[in-house]
Amino acid sequence: MTAENIPSTDALLTKAKELYAATFNGEPVTHAAMAPGRVNLIGEHTDYNAGFVFPMALPLATVIVGSKTDGNVSRVKSFSEDGIVEFDVKAIQPGQEPFWANYIKGAIANFHDQEALVNFNAVIISSVPQGGGVSSSAALEVSMYTFLESLTGSKAASDDKKALACQKAEHDYAGMPCGIMDQFISVMGKKNYAVLIDCKDLSVRKVEISDPSLAILITNSNVKHKLTGSEYPSRRNACFEAAKILGIPSLRELDSNKLQENRDKFNEVTYKRISHVVSEIERTSKAADALESKNYKLFGELMNASHDSLRDDYEVSCAELDQLVDIARKVEGVYGSRMTGGGFGGCTVTLLTKDSAEKVMKSISEEYKGNPTFYLCQPSNGASILI
Ligand code: GLA
Repeated sequence: MTAENIPSTDALLTKAKELYAATFNGEPVTHAAMAPGRVNLIGEHTDYNAGFVFPMALPLATVIVGSKTDGNVSRVKSFSEDGIVEFDVKAIQPGQEPFWANYIKGAIANFHDQEALVNFNAVIISSVPQGGGVSSSAALEVSMYTFLESLTGSKAASDDKKALACQKAEHDYAGMPCGIMDQFISVMGKKNYAVLIDCKDLSVRKVEISDPSLAILITNSNVKHKLTGSEYPSRRNACFEAAKILGIPSLRELDSNKLQENRDKFNEVTYKRISHVVSEIERTSKAADALESKNYKLFGELMNASHDSLRDDYEVSCAELDQLVDIARKVEGVYGSRMTGGGFGGCTVTLLTKDSAEKVMKSISEEYKGNPTFYLCQPSNGASILI
């Protein structure tokens, strides 16, 4: 089994234009935008604790094409969904069917320049696998926001503001109390760079990954366990509660020594959750330094430790992700392998030498009990207006 062919943004644009012409009676496309999915190299469940994350934007992306319409109806067709969704940009409501449309409605409702909004017809196409833990939702929100920037000619004041608006879209319209990582990297990702984001103040440090001997392999387990809905907010609440008990604004203010001193304030489970967050924040800033100095061995060890902590202490992994990681780690040339994203299914990310990629994909195809999909990815650019 080999890695998937990832279509270029141009190829997605061409396909989207064709579908647009077929759906809207040959009308020409006058505006278009794209936004990528992401993979997080390390720093999981740290963003909502004001910690560090270290993601990169993917060549997998969502493209939206369209044009303005007169009147009070917008019509949106998605390549992967049946039917056309209709709404008025001036009267957006949360909580309606179909569910997927809430991501775009949330982006519209949180657009910075409500006065400038006009109705439109649009078509959406995406190469980001849905429910795969590589931020298909952020790609949808950010591509819609960027499309609106093109349509109205009104740009967000900054990348931070744009990402925060899209995060709010996800909170209010999709009911997912996510952190800022996914939307932020989708907005400001950069070709050849992973980005260390300090979620306390949204400052960034870009670290180059363009070593030709290195590869980043994403393996989709193609499983998504239903638990996700309730487990994410419950982990997040446990962290917020713990910070409150300690009288600190967030778990970012804690280090392993201080945690030890306060050990008796928490039950076993909460202690494990906090231990993950504290150790993961430490690992993530170390990992950025390791990558910068091309110490891939250390980076890989930190990735492995991150996975083990997510599995044992934060308890957000699952049998399929553990198996994928175990198989990859046995292959020579693999520096490290871990689950990526929220957990309970989705993808793993593996840092390895380019030469060992075929071998890893072969081993996983032979040994993994599920049906994997592979993506070999370079860090890519964030969202942009295409037309
Ligand atoms: C999801 C959320 C992110 C982040 C990760 C876990 O992807 O959208 O904000 O919390 O889980 O690191």
